[in-house]
Amino acid sequence: MRIGIFGGTFDPPHLGHELFLKTFINRYKPDKTFVVPTRIPPHKACETTSAERRLKMARIAFGDYAEISDCEIRRRGKSYTSDTLAYFKKRFPEADLYFLVGSDMLLTMDSWHEPEKIFSLAAIVSSPRENDEKLLAAMKEKAAALKENYGAKIKIMELLPVEISSTEIRGGAEGVSEKIAAYIEKNGLYKESEQIKAIKKELSSSLSARRYYHSLGVMNTAGELAARYGADVEKARLAGLIHDCTKEYTREEHMAVIKRENIIIPDDEIGVDKLLHSHTGAAEAKRRFGVEDEEILDAVRCHTAGKANMTLFEKILFIADFIDPSREYRGVENLRKTAFRDIDAAMLECTSYSVKDLAARRKTIALNSVYAYNEAAALMAKKKAERSERSKK
Ligand SMILES: [Fe+2]
Ligand SMILES: [Fe+2]
Repeated sequence: MRIGIFGGTFDPPHLGHELFLKTFINRYKPDKTFVVPTRIPPHKACETTSAERRLKMARIAFGDYAEISDCEIRRRGKSYTSDTLAYFKKRFPEADLYFLVGSDMLLTMDSWHEPEKIFSLAAIVSSPRENDEKLLAAMKEKAAALKENYGAKIKIMELLPVEISSTEIRGGAEGVSEKIAAYIEKNGLYKESEQIKAIKKELSSSLSARRYYHSLGVMNTAGELAARYGADVEKARLAGLIHDCTKEYTREEHMAVIKRENIIIPDDEIGVDKLLHSHTGAAEAKRRFGVEDEEILDAVRCHTAGKANMTLFEKILFIADFIDPSREYRGVENLRKTAFRDIDAAMLECTSYSVKDLAARRKTIALNSVYAYNEAAALMAKKKAERSERSKK
């Protein structure tokens, strides 16, 4: 039995990937082929397309002739190829595994984690991405060295040239199938307004790296939630990007903004430093980045405490802040799923978490947070009653 395993970020899957996999299937006639989108570590994941979207695109691109596996994406902690191959060996102990890698990956394979284990578990199949004699020669040389040092079995398949990589596609070149192009278009992936580019540049130097990556993560997540619930994706991304723009201000800096802009802060929020950045963030986003859209500014204003009668757009930012890819607390995976299934259920999860957490730490709970929680609880209770009413009929 032969099993093909094709790993990669697939952000997005391009025609070069498709040609590579199809050629492999034609030549090696595997009994099964798996496409395995790689797990990207949380801090880096803020900059990339979400795991769910990469899985979805892999299904669109390869789903007709390969199984898409989320085994790496679901794995906790560091993710290694050797673990992935061990996982497939355990599932198919009798099978010969063929691990498919691009030329750039082949050339660095001996520096990967546990190379001996990788080469003992699978044969490696690789192809030069371009019609490039020099690259082919380098690959052959590397293959010989890996064979010599590790007893690796390396097969080099020559393909028709497809001179395109995922990085070039993100930069604006074409090179994906029509189905992938339609998905990219529908979800507004890989394009960024000049305004977003300029704000990113400014925030990357004014915020700490950690806060900046969180902001990118909230931007991407808010955009995905907006696409899911039919809100304005571009606006949601902008709100996500700027929501914490004053999070690292000192109390003095917050107070200066509050005074200058005559911001009225509720009495029970003025003493809580953590809540001030929502109010000053809205004012500073307007002054520093020229954001005038009141829907965006309102969402920034209530993104920490919440409030009564939150709009869909406000809920999107509030929840995106809880579940961006840099968050790793217990239960976040479930909350991510809930957020895309039922936004009101996610609101109840988030607000009850905040209220409980603040009370446990003996901190002040802003009335706005209590209003948001009560409203979410009442709404979910109503939905539950309606469901049980329907099931009786
Ligand atoms: Fe915040
Ligand atoms: Fe935040």
